[in-house]
Amino acid sequence: MYTLVLNQHWMILFLIGFMGSGKSFYAKGLANFLGVPMVDLDNYIEEHEGISVAKIFEKYGEQSFRDKESNAIRQAYADLLKGITENIHRNAIAGIISCGGGTPCFNENMNWMNLHGYTVWVNPPEEVICERLKKESATRPLLANIPEASLSDFVHQRMLERKPYYAMARFSVSDSNISIVDLFKAIQDAKNVL
Ligand code: S3P
Repeated sequence: MYTLVLNQHWMILFLIGFMGSGKSFYAKGLANFLGVPMVDLDNYIEEHEGISVAKIFEKYGEQSFRDKESNAIRQAYADLLKGITENIHRNAIAGIISCGGGTPCFNENMNWMNLHGYTVWVNPPEEVICERLKKESATRPLLANIPEASLSDFVHQRMLERKPYYAMARFSVSDSNISIVDLFKAIQDAKNVL
């Protein structure tokens, strides 16, 4: 049913990790640096559904969002594939998908990503994640009812539940200050030993 693309001439990079880990930041930075297309999965869903992620949670519930998200990652991947030209060099990163924090944990998505591209876990310390989320909780439906005083417990608990999925990534980065170029080099080195 699935095709393993890791031995072909190019690959798609999937960035995974908790909310506030920096997935979108690094996806944009790497795509810019490499001159390749990138998809932010939450934005992709919002554009295709014509409604915000927060509203999908509110109107249809989380399960519905998870189904849309699982369809979206496969569709976004197919979109990126259409743009790949024959002359892209061996082992090159041809496109980047920045996932939502929960994407790897539902509907076999993590296995699917590992079969279809190269997964990178953006994994800064929990304190760093909490500091960022304090400033941005308004746009995130899962944080809507979490008081600031409970945020670090919430993050810790969720992280424990999600770690088994995130840890399936081929590569992980925990340096929250790593530059785009250094992250690229680290991924490239790790990818080359595949
Ligand atoms: C979610 C993370 C969000 C978004 C949705 C659910 C999660 O994405 O997909 O609110 O389950 O962790 P970000 O990680 O980009 O905030």
